[in-house]
Amino acid sequence: MPDRLILAIETSCDETSAAVVTTGRKILSNVAYSQDSIHAKYGGVVPELASREHIVRIDEVVKEALNTARVALNDIDAVACTYVPGLVGSLLVGLSFAKGLAVSLDKPFIGVDHIKAHLRSYELEYSDIRYPVIGYVVSGGHTLLYYIEDDYREELLGTTLDDAAGEAMDKVANLLGLGYPGGPVIDRLSRPAPERFIKFPRVKTRNPYDFSFSGLKTYVLYTLRGQDMRGEKKDLTDEETRKLCASFQEAVVGQLVDRLVFAISERRAASVAVAGGVAANTRLRERLKETCSKYRLNLYVPSARLCTDNAAMIANYAIKSYERGVYSPLDLDAIPTKKASNA
Ligand code: KG4
Ligand code: ZN
Repeated sequence: MPDRLILAIETSCDETSAAVVTTGRKILSNVAYSQDSIHAKYGGVVPELASREHIVRIDEVVKEALNTARVALNDIDAVACTYVPGLVGSLLVGLSFAKGLAVSLDKPFIGVDHIKAHLRSYELEYSDIRYPVIGYVVSGGHTLLYYIEDDYREELLGTTLDDAAGEAMDKVANLLGLGYPGGPVIDRLSRPAPERFIKFPRVKTRNPYDFSFSGLKTYVLYTLRGQDMRGEKKDLTDEETRKLCASFQEAVVGQLVDRLVFAISERRAASVAVAGGVAANTRLRERLKETCSKYRLNLYVPSARLCTDNAAMIANYAIKSYERGVYSPLDLDAIPTKKASNA
């Protein structure tokens, strides 16, 4: 079959993104408008502001994706869009826009799971993938570990019981007055590593594949205000801040790697893959490289542009459905992120 063109839209959180990707997995365009500057002063994403900004931007972002790809709307063979999980107002903007386009073009509409799209983003940059793959999605909204058997089958091994890894980074950066998003700042301040780390508690979970980061965040809070939380927030010197950041990061990365090593010991695997904003973390990348070389596994780390929220990964996952003729109904509803009660 000659290559077909998939137009994909992603609006699950605070990036308005559109991409045109061929069924041969060539990315013709991948445009993303980031709302970071709108949410920065609140220390996190404000859902209503996010949906309103998607409404304002989506038309121009889709047009830019088509223009950059040098294709006309009529050339598109299918329209794909994230429908789960995310902020419901944000999802609805992309979903309604994508359905409208599909109807007007009389082309198939394909709803895509954002997490699975992240998980498979390595397919856009690596060929001859060696399965089974143990894959992570580590972002501001999600921390999940999967066992990926082949091109189509994936099994969820574990997920976070409270905060996502990136969310914990953002919250800790906020506590330390370092701004939003916190992950990149913590990453930068953690280099070079201090001579000695502050020892954080080791986190155990009933399911050894699950994660829990909120205790690490609380540990930072205790360090700043004392165990009884009665003290004034301590003013740290730059050096103390760096040491605390590096130690917290070491604890987060340590937990991510522990679960991976457990999965490697329990399941047969040929490769490891990682995606999501936290995949950009320097220390995580270092530790993953060490681990994969120790166990002789391939490591797939897509470039930063494909690790963070983007529509090309949505198109990539939609290709699996398109090639099998599996389309979504036009009454497909948006499914929001379920939050743990203590998150
Ligand atoms: O995937 P992403 O762009 O958006 C979603 O959350 O879906 O991920 C954003 C998250 C933020 O929490 C941000 O602090 C974190 O990724 N992040 C990092 C780094 N760069 C981004 N965390 C640690 N180290 C980094 N270098
Ligand atoms: Zn995401």
